[in-house]
Amino acid sequence: MVLHYVCKILLTLHVIQCNSCFILNLDRNSSATYYNDRDNELSSDDVSIPLQYLTETSNLLSPLGHGTSFQSYNLQRVEELTRQWAPLVWLAPGEQFFPSGVPEFLEHVLPWSGKSPFGSLPGGPSSESWFLVTKTAIVEELTRQWAPLVWLAPGEQFFPSGVPEFLEHVLPWSGKSPFGSLPGGPSSESWFLVTKTAIDGLLNNSSSILYGQNPTRAPVPIYANVVTCSPSSFHVTYWFFFPFSQGKDLCTLDMGLLGPWPLPLVNNHCYGTYKDFGSHVGDWEHMSLLFQGGDNPSSMYVSAHDAGAFYKFNKLANQFVYERMEIRKGIMQRPTFPDIVELTPTASHPVLFAAKGSHGLWTAPGKHKYVRLPRLYDVSGYGIPWYTWQRVEIINTALGAFPAWLLFYGKWGNPRSKCHPLSRVGLHICQLADGPTGIPMKKQNFNCS
Ligand SMILES: *[C@@H]1O[C@H](CO)[C@@H](O)[C@H](O)[C@H]1NC(C)=O
Ligand SMILES: *[C@@H]1O[C@H](CO)[C@@H](O)[C@H](O)[C@H]1NC(C)=O
Ligand SMILES: *[C@@H]1O[C@H](CO)[C@@H](O)[C@H](O)[C@H]1NC(C)=O
Repeated sequence: MVLHYVCKILLTLHVIQCNSCFILNLDRNSSATYYNDRDNELSSDDVSIPLQYLTETSNLLSPLGHGTSFQSYNLQRVEELTRQWAPLVWLAPGEQFFPSGVPEFLEHVLPWSGKSPFGSLPGGPSSESWFLVTKTAIVEELTRQWAPLVWLAPGEQFFPSGVPEFLEHVLPWSGKSPFGSLPGGPSSESWFLVTKTAIDGLLNNSSSILYGQNPTRAPVPIYANVVTCSPSSFHVTYWFFFPFSQGKDLCTLDMGLLGPWPLPLVNNHCYGTYKDFGSHVGDWEHMSLLFQGGDNPSSMYVSAHDAGAFYKFNKLANQFVYERMEIRKGIMQRPTFPDIVELTPTASHPVLFAAKGSHGLWTAPGKHKYVRLPRLYDVSGYGIPWYTWQRVEIINTALGAFPAWLLFYGKWGNPRSKCHPLSRVGLHICQLADGPTGIPMKKQNFNCS
């Protein structure tokens, strides 16, 4: 009561009045009446009279009612009195969290029993253990539950890393002006992120940023970009960042001014020298899931190099089944994808394999041919497990909060170098290739329609 008067003296203007109240006509034992009583945070001084009135009267009106002293009220009078005696509730000065109608609230939550799929609103005693969960919380929960297990290849040297750690070791460079701060938007498209010290030196130092972090020592973040299509549908792309991608070792013969030329192996022996071609600083890999209601995805997309595969989820078998392949660019691409992708035995994490050095994602261990060139293949296998769900950073641009680097349209590594002397006449091979573009420049594998 004291607070009540203090509020009036302060002339606070936020009040709830009964000009849009609903009169519930429920019997004494009904949960609705009980809820009002119990959950109201105001003292009983302030609100108990109208609520008591509601229950007493309801008692009278219910078929089983035993009320005696209110016999003379008719329904119209009951409603009148209910409105007349509805309380004035002063909200506190500085209150930020205002009341709302129930239907508006229900649009933003889903009924959830804690395990089974999200259902429609249950009622009665069996609904007692259910929650109404905000929809963004559900999306985040599913995103974590279905984040993949990524096996890094045996002998992998170049581990993943978080983006902020990487950004500490590079500088944004537009190609001419001084190094600037990280730009964003379409005008940043021609920029590069260039290592602060020379790549050769960083490669000589096994604790440099290029070698990333072993995810079994401390969880390395992945970035889950969530796009909400409708209240019951969203897709999420899991992005994995590696500071360095190792190109392919080719046996070459050095032809002096004509540069190195590929040399065929003789009895599996290279009579020239091996050279890595196509390495680059910065490496983004991804896989995507599409959720269309319920608590399992309907489809998955796994990307390796410039191709990828769509898989459908088979709920009965609890595995993903190959559907079709997509070549994003390049006529030389010719990957083969396994028919089945398994989940981890005790949970729902798809099991993927990052190829040694290049980190292209495959759905099975082994050797994967991906281009129509002899001796060029990816190798993946059971090296080090990366439990990516241990650190999922969820990016939902619709909710407004996302890191500034998400808007960088440029290349996530140094410009190409050590190119073939004949690159000016069309032989475009470099030992160090351009860094790749980042998330905003990649096409989404699922769309909302
Ligand atoms: C309320 O519940 C009690 C015990 O469950 C029951 O005896 C009583 O008849 C109920 N009252 C009404 C109005 O339904
Ligand atoms: C890196 O190591 C190689 C071989 O050990 C050496 O030739 C080269 O000079 C080193 N480069 C730098 C920048 O330290
Ligand atoms: C190797 O890299 C680490 C991490 O950047 C650095 O602290 C260390 O000084 C480097 N070592 C050498 C010999 O440059």
